[in-house]
Amino acid sequence: MAPPDGRTGRAFGKVLLFGEHAVVYGHPALAIALERGVSAWVVPGAPGVEAPAWGLSASIGDGSRVGAALEALVGALPPQIAPARLHVDAHVPAGAGLGSSAAMAVACARGLALAAGVTLDDAVAYDAAMASERVFHGEPSGLDHTVAIRGGLLRFVRGTPPRVSPLAIGAAFDLVVVHVADGADTGAMVRGVREQRGRLGVVATALHDQIGVVVDEAASALDAGDIGRVGELMSVNHSLLGAIGVSTPALDAAVWAAREAGALGAKLTGAGGGGCVVACAAAGSGAALAEALGRRYRAAFVTRAEATS
Ligand code: PMV
Repeated sequence: MAPPDGRTGRAFGKVLLFGEHAVVYGHPALAIALERGVSAWVVPGAPGVEAPAWGLSASIGDGSRVGAALEALVGALPPQIAPARLHVDAHVPAGAGLGSSAAMAVACARGLALAAGVTLDDAVAYDAAMASERVFHGEPSGLDHTVAIRGGLLRFVRGTPPRVSPLAIGAAFDLVVVHVADGADTGAMVRGVREQRGRLGVVATALHDQIGVVVDEAASALDAGDIGRVGELMSVNHSLLGAIGVSTPALDAAVWAAREAGALGAKLTGAGGGGCVVACAAAGSGAALAEALGRRYRAAFVTRAEATS
């Protein structure tokens, strides 16, 4: 579906390739935009959102989290941008760690700005999406909406503002995203990791430091086009995520299923506790892998990481 005038606010979904959770403690993370995303445009009706693909309909002031998130978003936009009702066309699953809420926030901010004839700076879109994301996730790092706004492969270090740099990809490869289970609450997963750091002290901080090392090595391997090494590092990152307590037996099984089906490596992606696994495959071989894994899990799809030079 598309609006009559074709003018939509667009934003990318994302897949976290390396560094989730450790990013909360100042380590870098790498995320790549999905080819799929979210579009939003203004329609008649009470200020709110409707997203049929997610079975979602909410209005500002109805007591729902989505209504509250939209209210926070609009409150952080310039005053010339009035609240309105938005139709959201979503091509990423909701609540699966693929940045759906951030993509919705950015697409809505852009859709509202288009309807008001206002040019929206990325920095303003970032602050507005952060206000919306706080309603969903407590204190998010900002990674999801940074990718939703900018697209591409990004290295992200949290901060105010965050340090964000695009990364080079030396050779194309395929990523297969496998939807394994309902996603857990990101805020609850982040709290669980903080509690583990409190209990285990230096053991936990060493695991986070180790994730930071894997992220730096992965950035170099991506730049060099060494996809075999990227895959192996993904599997290492998954094991470290298991050690910090955010994997599940179902996610571990899906990682092994992907590796046994020919993936170069695989890991959970996002907050963990459920959601998705991402697997790395040689360019052109992702479709067969997605087909095999799609039969065993809720869904599997390929997103291509194109070489940048
Ligand atoms: O599950 P997602 O896509 O919301 O990713 C969460 C990533 C964390 O590092 C766990 C939290 C964050 O805010 O970066």
